[in-house]
Amino acid sequence: MTITVSVDLADRSYPVHVGAGVREMLPEVIPEGAKRVAVITQSEIPWDIDPGVDHEVICVPNGEAAKSLTVVEQICRQMAEAGFTRADAIVGVGGGVVTDLAGFVAAIYHRGIRFVSVSTTLLGQVDAAIGGKTGVNLAEGKNLVGAFWQPSGVLCDTDMLKTLPIREYQSGMGEVAKYHFLGGGHLDALEIDQRVAACVQIKADVVAADEREGGRRAILNYGHTLAHAIETAGDYDLRHGEAVAIGIAYAGEVALRLGRVDEARVAEHRRVLSAYDLPHSLPPSLDPGELLDLFSRDKKAIDGITFVLDGDDGVETVVGVERAVLADAMEAIR
Ligand code: GLY
Repeated sequence: MTITVSVDLADRSYPVHVGAGVREMLPEVIPEGAKRVAVITQSEIPWDIDPGVDHEVICVPNGEAAKSLTVVEQICRQMAEAGFTRADAIVGVGGGVVTDLAGFVAAIYHRGIRFVSVSTTLLGQVDAAIGGKTGVNLAEGKNLVGAFWQPSGVLCDTDMLKTLPIREYQSGMGEVAKYHFLGGGHLDALEIDQRVAACVQIKADVVAADEREGGRRAILNYGHTLAHAIETAGDYDLRHGEAVAIGIAYAGEVALRLGRVDEARVAEHRRVLSAYDLPHSLPPSLDPGELLDLFSRDKKAIDGITFVLDGDDGVETVVGVERAVLADAMEAIR
């Protein structure tokens, strides 16, 4: 069964199709009038779908290394040499690395061409592929160069999740866990197709309300302030979703100390993380002092240390959280 969620952005609205085998719908979501498409993917992604129009496959390096300006230039040159025009389109097939990269190339090639995202990972399906954030990394940091560029359509084929290594699949649940606290409720009670679609619906609603993160969209970063600090501190033993899981547990503890939630709500954070077999404590290799220092460098720190926290009115951005509170909460997750 296919579940379709619409991301409502006036004339830039698009469908997200979720379900087992939805990659077969690719010819239907190729933008009208596109005579050729560049399929950007990685050799490690299992891919067997004909887009139904003339196409050229461009394989980029495996892993995060693909998200670089060097690779962007290589793709643009390959597309220029092959004669792709503004009337054509790009299809990104892969996880967040590929869809971020391919979306960014789509945003800048010929000043912007149409783009379809075929997301093959759980992290991508519930987050990266939806909402139009595209970009690449610099040596100085992740996602420092990018653009908002909405796709024309997104396919989230849950069959492809079966090809993921178990740890990667489970890491994706870290992003799913986040949606429990963004109004998702008991998502863990749903089958995977429904669960992915429910997460997509929450993200679609947030993006429709605040496409360019003027405010509300920041709630999608629930659990991410600590996660980014963990990633920057360099604990590469942790996957992104695992770091987000620890960040979610931490956000619950910070909210408790600010009187925003009670013990039962903190326990619910731990219950959800355990339901997905995700970590909720800080690995001993990480230095809490270093993590606290990194918070003030987070790119969402607009006015003192800014956190996305749960509370009576739901999850929202809270500015100026004191370091002493953050340090005490850190002890609670050690
Ligand atoms: N990944 C957070 C966002 O799309 O805004």
